[in-house]
Amino acid sequence: MKNILVTGGAGFIGSNYINHILKDNQDYFIVNLDKLTYAGNLENLTSSQNNPRYRFIRGDIGNYELVDYLFEKYKIEYVINFAAESHVDRSILGSAVFFQTNVLGTNVLLEVSRKRNVKKFLQVSTDEVYGSLGPEGLFTEKTPLSPNSPYSSSKASADMMALSFFHTFGMPVVITRCSNNYGPFQFPEKLIPLMIINALNNKNLPVYGDGMNVRDWIYVIDHNIAIDLVFNKGNIGEVYNIGAGNELPNIQIVKLILSALDKSEDLIQYVKDRPGHDRRYAIDSSKIQTELGWKPLFTFENAIKETIDWYLSNTSWWHRIISGEYQKYYEMQYNR
Ligand code: NAD
Ligand code: TYD
Repeated sequence: MKNILVTGGAGFIGSNYINHILKDNQDYFIVNLDKLTYAGNLENLTSSQNNPRYRFIRGDIGNYELVDYLFEKYKIEYVINFAAESHVDRSILGSAVFFQTNVLGTNVLLEVSRKRNVKKFLQVSTDEVYGSLGPEGLFTEKTPLSPNSPYSSSKASADMMALSFFHTFGMPVVITRCSNNYGPFQFPEKLIPLMIINALNNKNLPVYGDGMNVRDWIYVIDHNIAIDLVFNKGNIGEVYNIGAGNELPNIQIVKLILSALDKSEDLIQYVKDRPGHDRRYAIDSSKIQTELGWKPLFTFENAIKETIDWYLSNTSWWHRIISGEYQKYYEMQYNR
């Protein structure tokens, strides 16, 4: 049995990871430490909550005593750190909590893990640490870090800190850097779920700038399979890029969603651009493919359809979100 502390497991990617991994894997015992911020939702974990190999603890990764206590109580040997403030737009509205959680919180996890001789520490990071690409080229693991938003700079700080714990203390750290995810349980402030839900509600779809910013999309399950592979087989001290090679301009995604839902393109509303908006992200994932044998299993064409269907069949999930705390932010950000 592997005793694993998974942080941020009530969010979008972490909850998909836990649900997927507990179903297929008999030798993981998972302790999920999550603060349940606006982005954390225990409903995402309904299929795992009664699993005897799963515990949920509400708490902050920045709480040293709590993290230390969990290591002791559950004999934690491994950490997978998903917990983060994750939305670029929110980091522009207020950055402090991003540095509090993503940098100082990660520091607490690293310090306790070092003291407790962790067997592996996987830091879940993002391609946004590399900054923005021009029309050509891909991010490799050797691309210099050049983050542009408070969010991405906080993630880059955490990456460098984690690697420093490998170099200085020999701690068994690995880092994954993935491109933009989509799939079930994604909080409706990110592009794809926001556009699906607005279209279903016949509300405007706010496209930033000229709509030609490019993101490289990956289905969340493909990301999680890659994380699990790096967790088990990744070499310590290494970084692994994860991406499925699906580059698309935002406007094309928005039009695809409208067409899938049989809605008019008149709902599209071009709005003021995001400050410092990165133009293009695109991942070279050849390292994880050749060294660890990973490859994406889902095509964008099929998985985006499944994702849209999921939001159509789970209206009560997102209704509860958009009528609650999220609504205030939504009004502030998008009623223009
Ligand atoms: P999310 O915002 O949906 O979930 C984050 C989770 O972390 C929430 O459950 C929240 O309650 C929890 N959390 C926040 N602060 C905490 C704290 N101080 N202590 C404990 N828990 C806390 O984010 P996500 O999209 O699931 O992203 C997960 C990770 O993957 C993040 O580290 C993010 O940087 C990274 N990532 C995300 C994407 C993407 O496209 N969403 C792509 C690459 C990497
Ligand atoms: P987002 O989902 O916030 O992810 P990230 O900024 O981390 O890549 O945004 C994806 C892209 O969609 C990004 O180029 C910004 C754009 N976008 C819009 O055009 N309108 C929106 O309402 C949102 C949320 C994003």
